[in-house]
Order: sequence, then structure tokens, then C-alpha cells
Amino acid sequence: MAQYSKGLEGVIAAETKLSFIDGEKGILEYIGIPIGELASHSTFEETVYLLWNGRLPKKDELAAFNDQIRSRYALSKDIAKLVLEMPKTGEPMHVIRTLVSALGVFDSKPNAIDLPSVRDKALTVLAQTPTMLAYYQHHRKGTPIVPPDTSLSLAENFLYMLNGKKPTPTMAKALDVCLVLHTDHGLNNSTFSARSVISTESDLYSALTAAIGSLRGPLHGGANEGVMKMLSQIPTVDAAEAFIQDKLAKKDKIPGFGHRVYKSYDPRAKYLKVLAKQLAEDTGNKDLYEKSARIEGVMEREKAAKGIYPNVDFYSATTYHCIGLPLDLFTPMFVVGRVGGWSAHIIEQLADNRLFRPSVDYTGPHDVRYTPISER
Ligand SMILES: CC(C)(COP(=O)(O)OP(=O)(O)OC[C@H]1O[C@@H](n2cnc3c(N)ncnc32)[C@H](O)[C@@H]1OP(=O)(O)O)[C@@H](O)C(=O)NCCC(=O)NCCS
Repeated sequence: MAQYSKGLEGVIAAETKLSFIDGEKGILEYIGIPIGELASHSTFEETVYLLWNGRLPKKDELAAFNDQIRSRYALSKDIAKLVLEMPKTGEPMHVIRTLVSALGVFDSKPNAIDLPSVRDKALTVLAQTPTMLAYYQHHRKGTPIVPPDTSLSLAENFLYMLNGKKPTPTMAKALDVCLVLHTDHGLNNSTFSARSVISTESDLYSALTAAIGSLRGPLHGGANEGVMKMLSQIPTVDAAEAFIQDKLAKKDKIPGFGHRVYKSYDPRAKYLKVLAKQLAEDTGNKDLYEKSARIEGVMEREKAAKGIYPNVDFYSATTYHCIGLPLDLFTPMFVVGRVGGWSAHIIEQLADNRLFRPSVDYTGPHDVRYTPISER
């Protein structure tokens, strides 16, 4: 009988060739390529191709992949109608989870799990999550919907649909880098959820819907919103130290810090920090970056010895704010990027599947007599 490990820490539940993490040295690689190389030279679309195919595309392959994604930006009439029927008070994470699930309802063959079908369906989800979010944003604000522009990359098109004007190259690049950094990350909780669901030979939509539900949690992808809320509670840069010390004294966890795997600096946070600093200067949000840097300084003094460093969510909060995203679209942006990684894991799981079915250590009573209701 295997040993019980609370939170499944240290348990190896799958083999993967997709992403490699060394939590002690702060290394993250996709198909062997260090994340910094991809953040500096690749694009989100190319990174997804890399994960789905196990290698970088040639020029014509990338062009064809880009075309396939762009040709699917537009929502079907049914899904567009559904977006406009959503309550305006809904939380975008609940909305996007529902809409991805709904794609399965309108698919004539939702349960097909052969490789070409899964890739085809995954491409649609990848291309349409930004459109769903932009449409919902306009719907709830009562502003006119901006249809997608197929001449634009996924990141450019999202910002275009959201704001009604083409983004500056700096903004589009910043969002694209965020998506690259968020695409995949080993067997994190949401990826585990996706692999677990598809291991029953269920369907892509069900696996992705489960993954979105997992990502929403404040201990997982929801932490970026927690970071932004914390930054807005701190009135000035100089107030950051006392604020954090007070939280630590109360044994509160500081959002955006700590990680199950990284016990050194999260390599994604390293890139986001540089991006956040530049964007904060460019957009008049220097205070936000300064507060973040001050918090990092306090945490470094107090918690680095315990292996607690900024994680991917810490500087993505400032980055998303500077890009102009509303707070409750921060975690949905994580969904847009992670659909690439989740789908890669679903494809990998199906290629060599065995049902996920762990054991449980029963700690309850035995041989209990059934008490009739009149005697309870
Ligand atoms: C990510 C996270 C869930 C990892 O959890 P975990 O591996 O189960 O680690 P634990 O929660 O058991 O924490 C281990 C120790 O570090 C401390 N710690 C972990 N994260 C901390 C944080 N963000 N702030 C302060 N202390 C923290 C815990 O209090 C605990 O201390 P103790 O040993 O004195 O009890 C956790 O670090 C966390 O909640 N972080 C904040 C939320 C967040 O940013 N999530 C996004 C992750 S990408």
C-alpha cells in the first residue's frame, strides 16, 4: 500500500514530455526550451504549437497554425446568443467555465476523443475563449460588441475586441508574453483535474471545464486577483512594510508568494517583474510596481529562508492592471493561456491512457448498527 501524502505532495501521477520544473533551481522548460528563451523570442501561438507537436514549427507550419486559430475567432450564433443571455452580474470565471462547457452542447460530436478531433476541438476553445470574454465584458458594461479581427494575433485581437482599438505593440507584446509564461506548468491542480477527467475517456469540453473550475481557486490561479486587491488596500508605498508585517503576525498568507514546487524564485515571476516595471513606468502606475517591490523586500527578509518567493501571480497582477484589464478578468486571462497547456496534457494522456483512480485511507468507524429513525 502506497504512503498517504496530504495534498498529494511528492506523488508522481503521470509521465510527461511537456514541461519540466526544477523547483530548487528555479527552472521551467517547455519541451526542453527554457521559459526565458520562449518569453524573449516566441509567441503564444508558436508556444502552443510546440506543446501540441513536441517541436517548434517551420515557417509555413506556423503560418498555417495561425490561420487555423484566426479562422475560429468568431463565435457561432448559438454561443454568441448565450453570452448575451448571461446575467450581467456573473463572475467572468463562472461565465467562461459555463461557455466552454456549452461548446460541447453545440458540438455535433462532442465525445470524439481521437487525436484529430481533440486537436480540432481544442483549437476552437483556444481561439474562442478571448472572444467569449471580450463579448461578455461589453455585454455587462452595455457597450457595443467589437467582432474579432482575423488579421491580428490572439493577444492583439483580444485587446482590440476589449478596447475597440488596436493595442500598441508594447501592450500586445506584454499580453503575449504573459500568455507564453502561463501556458503550461507540470501537473498543477487544474492540469491534474483535466488529465483525471479525460482519463475516464470523457471528452475535451468536460476536462477543460473541470480545469477552469480548479484554476478559479485562490490557492491556484485566483491568486492574481488577490494580489491586486492587496495592492489596492495599501494606501502608499511606505505603508507596504507595516501592512505585510501585520498580515504575517496574524499568520495570513500573502497572495502571490509561495509555491508547492518552487522553493526558489519562480522563473516566470522573474520575467513578469521586468515586464511589470516597464509597463508601470509607461502607464503612470509606478506606485503599484514600487509597492510590489517593497512587499517583495519584506517577504525576502521574513520568508526567503523558508523557500517562499514571489510566484507567477505576484507581478502578473501589476502587468494585467497596466494593460488595462479589469480585476475580474485577471484569472480568465490565465484560462486563455492555460487552455494551450491543458489541451496538450489531454492529448498526451489520451495517447497512453490509464484511468486515474487513487486510493483513500479510510479513518471512519466500522460495524455500526443502523439506528431506526424513531430512536435517533
Ligand atoms: C501556493 C501555496 C498554496 C502552496 O501551498 P503548500 O505547498 O500547501 O504550502 P503550505 O500552505 O503548507 O505552506 C508551507 C509553509 O509556508 C507558509 N507560507 C506558504 N505560502 C505563504 C504565503 N504566501 N505567505 C506567507 N506564508 C506562506 C505557510 O504558512 C506554511 O508555514 P508553516 O510551516 O509555518 O505552517 C501557498 O504558498 C499559498 O497559499 N500561497 C498564496 C496563494 C498563491 O499565491 N497561490 C498561487 C500559487 S501559483
